[in-house]
Amino acid sequence: MDQKKQPEITHAEYASKKGEIALRPHEFDGIQEYDQTLPNWWLFIFHASVIAFVGGWFLYYNVGLTKTDAENVDAQLERIASAKAKALEDMLSTLNDETLVNQWATDTTVVDAGRQIYQANCIACHGENLTASIDVGGGQKVNLPGLSLKDAEWKYGAKPMDIFRIINEGTPADSPGHNGAKMQAWGQTLPPLQVAQITAFLIHENEAEFR
Ligand code: HEC
Repeated sequence: MDQKKQPEITHAEYASKKGEIALRPHEFDGIQEYDQTLPNWWLFIFHASVIAFVGGWFLYYNVGLTKTDAENVDAQLERIASAKAKALEDMLSTLNDETLVNQWATDTTVVDAGRQIYQANCIACHGENLTASIDVGGGQKVNLPGLSLKDAEWKYGAKPMDIFRIINEGTPADSPGHNGAKMQAWGQTLPPLQVAQITAFLIHENEAEFR
């Protein structure tokens, strides 16, 4: 007897040919499940993501082919640090006691820029009038945390470049500061140009002393 071979067909395919929806044989709490395969486009994306994950995991964590996030951050920080060092070096190649007093501090645009940066960053501790105190009325004065920048006394050197340096580098590590307060290194937040502009402003405000 020669039986004709039937093409193999799944239950679900058979049902769908008949225009029916096949159900899986199980049932839980009256809930049944359709017996349908997921669309190929969906399966393709699913399998591709699994492969991409395994490949990515292997290359990133085992082979070390790509840089880790930590290495990327370190490289960026290094780049920023060297750009800052370069900017300071460039500034120091032309900035000196003589140019600060005779060029920077006599240029009104430079001094005005310095005044604005001073007002934005320094008045909290050195006062709007540079005396490190504020007038609270009735002849009363309140001292601010900083030192007076108008008393012709410069604790860390009275040369223009000494003033640039104390602003740029802050209180030296081995100094106890003033009443226990140390000043931050403004070079961390302000570019060398702005530190030079504030220095020019301070020299301008203390003109008699520097000329
Ligand atoms: C949070 C408070 C604070 C701020 C803000 C501050 N300083 Fe100071 N500054 C101090 C203190 C405190 C000292 C004294 C440090 C010491 O004795 O080591 C000081 C010292 C100085 C000195 C040395 C003064 C001297 O007579 O020897 C200069 C110059 C100076 N600051 C400039 C600036 C400039 C410019 C800014 C703004 C960019 C600024 N400071 C912002 C607290 C501050």
